[in-house]
Amino acid sequence: MSGSFFISTPIYYVNARPHLGHAYTTIVADVVSRFNAMNELQTFFLTGTDEHGDKIVDAAEKEGLSPRKYVDRISGLFHDLWPELNVKYDYFIRTTDKDHIDVVEKILQRLYDKGDIYFSEYEGKYCFGCERFYTDRELVDGKCPDHETKPELIKEYNYFFKMSQYQEWLIQHIRENPDFIRPERYRNEALSFLKEPLEDLCISRPKSRLKWGITLPFDQEYVTYVWFDALLNYISALGYPEGDKFKKFWPAANHLVAKDILKPHGIYWPIMLKAAGIEVYKSLNVHGYWNIDESKMSKSLGNVVEPLELKNRYGLDAFRYFMMREMVFGLDSSFSEEALVHRINSDLANDLGNLFSRVLTMTHKYFNGVIPPFDAGVEKEVSRDIEKFASETVEGFKAGMEDFSFHKALIAVWGFIGKMNKYIDVTAPWVLAKEKKARKQLETVIYNLLEGLRIVSGLIYPVMPDTAKIMQAHLGLDPKKSFFEFDLLKKWKGLTPGIKIPKSVTLFPRIDIKKKSEPKQEMDSKGMSEIVIKDEITLETFKSVDLRVATVISVEEIPRAKKLLKVEVDLGAEKRVVVAGIAGDYSPEGLIGKQVVIVANLKPAKLMGVLSQGMLVAAVDKKKLSVVTVDRMVTPGTQLS
Ligand code: MSP
Repeated sequence: MSGSFFISTPIYYVNARPHLGHAYTTIVADVVSRFNAMNELQTFFLTGTDEHGDKIVDAAEKEGLSPRKYVDRISGLFHDLWPELNVKYDYFIRTTDKDHIDVVEKILQRLYDKGDIYFSEYEGKYCFGCERFYTDRELVDGKCPDHETKPELIKEYNYFFKMSQYQEWLIQHIRENPDFIRPERYRNEALSFLKEPLEDLCISRPKSRLKWGITLPFDQEYVTYVWFDALLNYISALGYPEGDKFKKFWPAANHLVAKDILKPHGIYWPIMLKAAGIEVYKSLNVHGYWNIDESKMSKSLGNVVEPLELKNRYGLDAFRYFMMREMVFGLDSSFSEEALVHRINSDLANDLGNLFSRVLTMTHKYFNGVIPPFDAGVEKEVSRDIEKFASETVEGFKAGMEDFSFHKALIAVWGFIGKMNKYIDVTAPWVLAKEKKARKQLETVIYNLLEGLRIVSGLIYPVMPDTAKIMQAHLGLDPKKSFFEFDLLKKWKGLTPGIKIPKSVTLFPRIDIKKKSEPKQEMDSKGMSEIVIKDEITLETFKSVDLRVATVISVEEIPRAKKLLKVEVDLGAEKRVVVAGIAGDYSPEGLIGKQVVIVANLKPAKLMGVLSQGMLVAAVDKKKLSVVTVDRMVTPGTQLS
């Protein structure tokens, strides 16, 4: 391995569960990291959680938990989600880690001693969602453009970081390094911020107002939090200042963020680094938002999409491909399941899936599943530039990936897939198979197609690692070894003739949109529910169902799920959340205080992103639901017998 490569995601706030927006950035980082590893670079991929600040304290209070318990829980959700999405990070940092806190204290003290941090009174408009002050110019109709809420006027003594003295240096640095902030629109946006004089950055909170932060080493009555704390994760995670990882990876640092946090990353962070005497990062890569109906997907707007639901419904690789192919890096994209299904059916099932199964089926039909030899004598007749297209595709793919234009990289691969599908039509192997004389031509055509599939499998690996591995195992490549290296993709004739390969499998099943949306028939032909008494069961079987009485404590609607309610119940020894499809028949207020019956030992399941820990028992009569209750108050948790 020659060089090194470092990629980071933002560290996510733990005031909300991870959603599709977080998943996008993290999957991009995974794709970029895998791509660079294929390029012979030693990679380091960092992600984690941002755990200090008002937002977190508020969220913990709402859940009735201490900040510590709360951050452990939500950080765990992020930590556990990434492996589910096949995201292979190298380190997961938490801003509550001791090593991180030590680095923050060290840098604060250094800047304070240098005179870059001072104490002063400040009055300003503060957005709690963004945890920063806004200037009037940045507000839209007096509101925070991201959270669409009015900022609060805050006046207090605080510590400030002097930024203005580094303004000219930063302008110069951005101008001289075109890739420092990319794509270009965000570079221009950063330069446009810098046209106005930079205000100094408020970096503290008095402990009387916020305790959940890192105590300033030079004033025990104050904490630092959010940006001065969070941004330093990128170096503390590498073991700054002496760690080997810091020395090796920091010079190759690439950050990945969405446009919401361009300013802290493009302005505050390089200035903090410069002031602390640390080399600035190599490049900041900024993407747009995933929107739902024109609005940014976010917890505060209540329109989030759960990544695991999409994975479970459509398959992980299809979901990863969709994200990378659909969004033009840097621009906003609208999320819809229709678009996802369309991509799966056309790009994956039709183009790639069909090519794979056609080629493997022909290999089995004409060569008994054995990779045929390649004959140089017929190369001119049948090759039709397929090898040249392959090498151009590898180059096009690489260029797109290096530039963070993932959609272009994938378009290049799909161009090649299209070429190969055409190649089959033009060379017509089924005609060649009928002529004994054409055996060599047939062998070479099929070899070329299998070899083309090998190249495709290598190129899709960073985006669809599982599919790439399945493809390679079907091309006779040893699944225990890795063939995901660019050097191997640049060479044609990497497959060994004579090897027997397995029969084809369906890589991506087509999704039948009609079937998906048809409601289940529960009524008979006259529109009456049929009464069918189920098979007899033993008392033991009945007793295995744990039915218990529970008191409803709170009820919430679930955004985007018209029929579902999130019902919190008291089961005596514990509280549970149950998702019930009763929103059409009950208002949230009408349920609170009722004693209902729940199936307490049902396997938990996620519905619209909410984990349901049981099932509420109800009678369904003429499509109307009536919740089963007890006719006198009993102790919550009482078992039904
Ligand atoms: N904690 C700060 C970041 C500190 S980094 C030193 C923070 N956290 S966050 O939880 O709000 O995450 C913001 C990031 O999540 C975005 O920059 C982006 O990477 C991702 N996204 C959140 N919502 C998104 C969309 N709707 N669309 C695309 N990305 C989104 O800011």
